[in-house]
Amino acid sequence: MLKIGLIGYGTVGRGVYERLEVSKASISAVLGEECHVEAILIKNEQKHRLLEKECLVTVDWAEFQQAGPFDLIFEAIGGLEPALTYTLAYLEKGIPVITANKKLVAEHGAKLEEVAESNQTYYGYEAAVAGGIPIINVLKGLLPTTGISRVSGILNGTTNYMLTEMIENHRSFAEVLIEAQELGYAEADPTDDVGGFDAWYKIRILSRLCFGQWPNTELFHCQGLTALEDWHAEVGERIGLKLKLIGEAHSINGHVHGSVAPAFLTKTEALASVSGVTNGVSLEGKDIKQLLFIGPGAGKEATANSMVEDFLFHRRYQGNRLSANVESIEEIPFRYSLVFIKQAERDTALQWVKEQFIQVNETYSHPEGEAWLVPSVYEVNAQFPSYHVYGEITSSYAEESSSAQLGTF
Ligand code: NDP
Ligand code: HSE
Repeated sequence: MLKIGLIGYGTVGRGVYERLEVSKASISAVLGEECHVEAILIKNEQKHRLLEKECLVTVDWAEFQQAGPFDLIFEAIGGLEPALTYTLAYLEKGIPVITANKKLVAEHGAKLEEVAESNQTYYGYEAAVAGGIPIINVLKGLLPTTGISRVSGILNGTTNYMLTEMIENHRSFAEVLIEAQELGYAEADPTDDVGGFDAWYKIRILSRLCFGQWPNTELFHCQGLTALEDWHAEVGERIGLKLKLIGEAHSINGHVHGSVAPAFLTKTEALASVSGVTNGVSLEGKDIKQLLFIGPGAGKEATANSMVEDFLFHRRYQGNRLSANVESIEEIPFRYSLVFIKQAERDTALQWVKEQFIQVNETYSHPEGEAWLVPSVYEVNAQFPSYHVYGEITSSYAEESSSAQLGTF
């Protein structure tokens, strides 16, 4: 009998418990033995007072530990502490820990992997990136020697759900954020979603797997949706571009750079059609050209599925992409940016482009202001919101637009 300790019983923890119950027979067929949740650690006793379980449910860490020894821990509480202390306590004893906690993995993954390795156990974080998409074990188990030059994706279900609802159904930011929280997609502190930090943790984890080392966070810029205004997306829609929060990392001349930022995607970009809570991950390299993975990015069942399968996969096959085969991208993946200038700021912006010798290729007018298409090489003025454009943008986009008033500088 495999004895399991479950840390956290919220959206994800509950999902793991239910998945283990529902799939009892098939899991024991894979493992060759049955498994049973022996204890659940929670924080708020009152919230769970009506919970009836054939196991210990406690707020007391010491009591939880005494319910062991466990053979496996699922960690689903989120945040850095006490999750770090709890995780170390078990990895140091050689007990595998499976987590969905991308913040902990991104910030302390190097140490936790080292502790797991030196105690000959497993720290599994499949569910920490892109919820239900099994991208981590694909990289570790199926592509350990494949050359990768770039990884990019829509990595946050909450913001993709919000952008889809705001743009396609003209709903307000505040309303759709509350809905994403009710659906269990958002983080306990939704600033992590809206501020881009959740996707930032995830692109750092992907970068570690694709490029073989934990990245230098100073080279990974993070911008969320906080500067976004409705009319930015409206201008994009009119000229056939989709606004998405994109996480991206690439290797160039031996250096790995990454970012999370809102960006406009042309219709030809594979991630442009990824809507709602769905996430998408794209891997690029010389041999693979482009591999795409699309699926649910958040939610109880999808995330719990990833956690359970992560453990089962590890039991059957211990893959590891430790020294990655890193390739260099041939060119920067964006050539243009759209800079948004409010009517009242136009004179300042004109002065800026004049002083910096910035060539404005197109202007797109809107009652709120103008969007200027400029080559991405320019240092952007922090005063004006600016978003990269992925894909080949040509003036044909301008011609396609019937409602935008277009002009060229
Ligand atoms: P919830 O807020 O729904 O659940 C958190 C759970 O952890 C609750 O049961 C809470 O206890 C418990 N908890 C919190 N702090 C402590 C503590 N100090 N000691 C003991 N228990 C504690 O969060 P989620 O389930 O949504 O998320 C959990 C993790 O999974 C996070 O790292 C998140 O980023 C990640 N994740 C979430 C996804 C999702 O779709 N929701 C998808 C992928 C990853 P109590 O119930 O008593 O308050
Ligand atoms: N808050 C996260 C999201 C949960 O919306 O993507 C999944 O990691």
